[in-house]
Amino acid sequence: MIKISELPIPPEEYQKEIVESLNPRISEHPMMSPDERYFLNGLLAYYKPTNVLELGVNFGEGSAQILHNIRNTPEAKLTSIDLAEFAFYNEIIDEKKNTKRGVISDEPIGKFAFTHPDLPLDKWTLVTGKDPSEVIAGLDNSKDGYDFLVLDTAHLHPIELLNFLCVLPYLRDGAIVVLHDITLFALYIPPYAFACRQLFGAVVAERIQLNSRFSNIGAFQVSADTRKYIQNVFESLVLPWEIDPRNVRTSAIATLLNEHYALKELSVFREALRLNMHYYVSGKIEWHCWENMRTELFVSHLFGQTIYYGAGRNMADCLEYCKQNDIVFEAPIWDIAADKIGEICGHRVTVPDYSSSGIKKTLIITIWDEQIRETVRVQFEKLGYTVKCYIWN
Ligand SMILES: C[S@@+](CC[C@H](N)C(=O)[O-])C[C@H]1O[C@@H](n2cnc3c(N)ncnc32)[C@H](O)[C@@H]1O
Repeated sequence: MIKISELPIPPEEYQKEIVESLNPRISEHPMMSPDERYFLNGLLAYYKPTNVLELGVNFGEGSAQILHNIRNTPEAKLTSIDLAEFAFYNEIIDEKKNTKRGVISDEPIGKFAFTHPDLPLDKWTLVTGKDPSEVIAGLDNSKDGYDFLVLDTAHLHPIELLNFLCVLPYLRDGAIVVLHDITLFALYIPPYAFACRQLFGAVVAERIQLNSRFSNIGAFQVSADTRKYIQNVFESLVLPWEIDPRNVRTSAIATLLNEHYALKELSVFREALRLNMHYYVSGKIEWHCWENMRTELFVSHLFGQTIYYGAGRNMADCLEYCKQNDIVFEAPIWDIAADKIGEICGHRVTVPDYSSSGIKKTLIITIWDEQIRETVRVQFEKLGYTVKCYIWN
């Protein structure tokens, strides 16, 4: 099989006439530029896949193009999956600023393709309303798996990465993966929609991209190394998500990943989910920044003979975190102003005990002021406490 990095003619230059002969070629809401269509077309023409998977369909222009391209390959088929039931289009609100908003149409997903006058629809399976993780296992009964994937879904991190991880077990070695919108983030100020580029950058594979000034489509070839170094893609999941995890089909994804990946990879997925869930559920403006991490470090000492010193904002964050995560907080909270403070987040605050031994006890100082913190640390270390602060300023 020819390596994707050794194609004699760039895909966008190869057999362009196939694209031209699709009639009508584009609908009212094109999702790819003509060059990008040529790029996809060239790769299909080079590799002549027989089992194509498409994730992200919308009006079905891409599906139409693929079906048109494979129409003369007798055994070739296309399986397309889209999470939505209805296609969306971008409406320009301000031409000068190029601001748009997405509008959901009343046209069903794939309509351009399934109402097209001249396509081999018997080669097409279209699944809508589902995330790939929910259906991929039951769709293809060929033993070999898919030999071509067109991945063009939400673009918000980490959707394309999750989509790819979910379908990789169903792709053959040598399969071509075409990834659209790898530079989309550059169109926005501030930039967003990083998922495609994250995947393109993290995956271990031979890769190419459209040779243009704004190269927004790329492709790579799955190999044994892609699977061997898949941890790289998992690691990218840890970066802040651009989508609320509660809007991602995480339980189907977790079930699928559990079946196909090793523990060390799964633990990265779980960690990424946990961090992002915490961020979204707590409504914090900052992501997994040092403040969140500090709270987690405070809480990590809860089990044992631990006393918390200082009933200020850090302590309140810690108690709020415990509440949100169903963690029972029963440790003493000390503060010299206990009589005035009384309670913090429903927990009683008491005056510090300067006389008992601190042997085998941990004191977590949650005070922001460096001087006070240091004074308290010295005082209680003398009594035998193991003192932790986790605050450096
Ligand atoms: C950019 S459009 C696809 C355009 C299409 N590939 C074409 O060439 O015309 C993105 C589509 O991905 C779908 N989508 C978003 N998240 C998805 C997911 N997790 N799984 C499958 N499809 C998804 C959206 O509903 C939308 O229809």
